[in-house]
Amino acid sequence: MTQEFVPITISGTGSYAPKRILTNAELAESVDTSDEWIFTRTGIRERRIATDGELTSDMAAEAGRRSLETAGIARGEIDLVIVATTTPDMPFPSTACLVQHKLGLNSLAAFDLQAACSGFIYALETAAGMVRSGAYRNALVIGAERLSTIVDWQDRSTCVLFGDGAGAVVISRNHDPKSGWLGAKLGCDGSAVELLHLPGGGCQIPASSDSVEERQHFIKMKGREVFKAAVRVMEQSALQILEHHGLTADQVGCVVPHQANLRIIETLASRLGIPMDRFFLNLDRYGNTSAASIPIALDEAVRSGRIKSGELVLMVAFGGGLTWGSSLIRWP
Ligand code: ACO
Repeated sequence: MTQEFVPITISGTGSYAPKRILTNAELAESVDTSDEWIFTRTGIRERRIATDGELTSDMAAEAGRRSLETAGIARGEIDLVIVATTTPDMPFPSTACLVQHKLGLNSLAAFDLQAACSGFIYALETAAGMVRSGAYRNALVIGAERLSTIVDWQDRSTCVLFGDGAGAVVISRNHDPKSGWLGAKLGCDGSAVELLHLPGGGCQIPASSDSVEERQHFIKMKGREVFKAAVRVMEQSALQILEHHGLTADQVGCVVPHQANLRIIETLASRLGIPMDRFFLNLDRYGNTSAASIPIALDEAVRSGRIKSGELVLMVAFGGGLTWGSSLIRWP
């Protein structure tokens, strides 16, 4: 017996960025760097930093609220919440449970998903599968990060890269046969943990005065190796998903890539043969917001009219793990 899948789509998008802007020039007052170095190596000019009491769940809830508004879906109709985050409010309960409460949702299920910067693409695929099965009507999928908490502000090789924020989408059943969600391809290489990780705070290095002293609770990264791996896996993943659906790179109307580094995106564009003007970029204003990066960019691309109805949209990400993934949607 073959299983019938429910067609699905993204019915709404939303995002939230904290008000506080931290410019490259301001960073250069505390670490040995410059606006020129940061901009030419990364394309980043500034990033947003959450205020003291502003938690990942607060940013996630606000982005989620905005996406529900654009989807025109009542809170009672959301029965699944997934939050992709590397910076939850606390180890448990999940940030998704906190968001469910803050938004007053009657969800059947709420949980967090951790796949570093690829988290949103992983969460999208998870929610897509659950809604497609017919068991859930609408899912709220959020990528939210307060990376400023886990960035080592004394390490100039990482602190210049990251920022805070949240983005969200609503996944719903689709009634338009000409548009909608096509699918995703995910990947992982667990042998590359050392390239990008946060060693402290888990059972391997529990929090102690020594672990704090040794700065084990901050992001550690081998930038050059990450750069090379990122280009390779994003290209591979994008080509895989296109091929799977019998599509080619020239049919893509808009690419929404993980906003980590402009040079990574430019190299990817040239390898895929997709002109840079088809890539939506906002990393100059936000830096790398990890799991929040793609949904913030997607929301801005939709609201600014950059993504048009009927256009093929490719989202592609990579992150710690290493993890990677891409997804395709014919925009509604
Ligand atoms: N300001 C000034 N100089 C700096 C800075 C800085 N902020 N950071 C490093 N440097 C210096 C280094 O000390 C080094 O000096 P040296 O030559 O005297 O030793 C020199 O600049 C070159 O350093 P590299 O690390 O080789 O510089 P590179 O050109 O590779 O750029 C960068 C570094 C921007 C980090 C790049 O490697 C990169 O973007 N990598 C990918 C990182 C990334 O995308 N991470 C996010 C992953 S997603 C996730 O899951 C979180």
